[in-house]
Amino acid sequence: MLNFFGSKKSENVAVEDIHIDLNNIPKHIAIIMDGNGRWAKERMLPRTMGHKAGVEAIREIVKECSKLGIKYLTLYAFSTENWVRPNEEVNALMNLLVQYLRNEFKELDKNNVVINHIGDISKLPKICQDELIDAYNNTKDNTGLTLNLALNYGGRDELLRAFKKIYENITEGRLSKEDINENTLSSYLDTKGMPDPDIIIRPSGEQRLSNFLLWQCAYSEFWYSNIKWPDFKKEDLHKAIYDFQNRDRRFGGVK
Ligand code: FPP
Repeated sequence: MLNFFGSKKSENVAVEDIHIDLNNIPKHIAIIMDGNGRWAKERMLPRTMGHKAGVEAIREIVKECSKLGIKYLTLYAFSTENWVRPNEEVNALMNLLVQYLRNEFKELDKNNVVINHIGDISKLPKICQDELIDAYNNTKDNTGLTLNLALNYGGRDELLRAFKKIYENITEGRLSKEDINENTLSSYLDTKGMPDPDIIIRPSGEQRLSNFLLWQCAYSEFWYSNIKWPDFKKEDLHKAIYDFQNRDRRFGGVK
């Protein structure tokens, strides 16, 4: 039996035996795009080919999130710990980022996507910083999906940067101890103004958070799969959303 779901533009799409409730679409999906290296190794290819294949998966998933009316998609593309990888791999990832932004800009803009970034991008090569800033400035008024590319991102680093800024504002008299609550802290993070992720998706069989959105995922639902990121398709996204819609979220309360 086939069930159907449609995008906001009332376009219908058939999906294998899965019915996604369009009235309960997650607002924010975050993905740890893992398994590129193993995907390449299985095919006797260099690791960088796994990342290149991973970009294809990004294209498909961004398009689908946009179509489903998801408001925020955060992709963990480069962590504060990834700098220890061989130079060749780090450079290849930076080049893929620049290529992605250049090749996809028109299409993303046409689809009303805001191309945002989180993480400390001041440590990235200048060309990456320029492309990211341009992409953001040229799409910031779009009203569809916000695509957060997490680059040189670490949850601990983000919290440290927030604490330092709060300290600075206190010592310079702009903030008092009484003003600090959970909302204040959230407003000092890179995800300021965004809802916390509803689901964290991690493909490739690993079941850890790896320093991703530590503060924001307090009540996120986790969804794991053995599929490696380059093989992750929109049908896998549908499964994750379907599972999310059937979870019992109590946020510490009772039902
Ligand atoms: C983790 O897999 C993946 C990364 C560290 C990089 C993810 C980057 C991309 C998919 C492409 C570049 C990004 C953009 C935004 C264009 P891994 O290499 O750790 O895989 P492994 O655990 O199998 O070795």
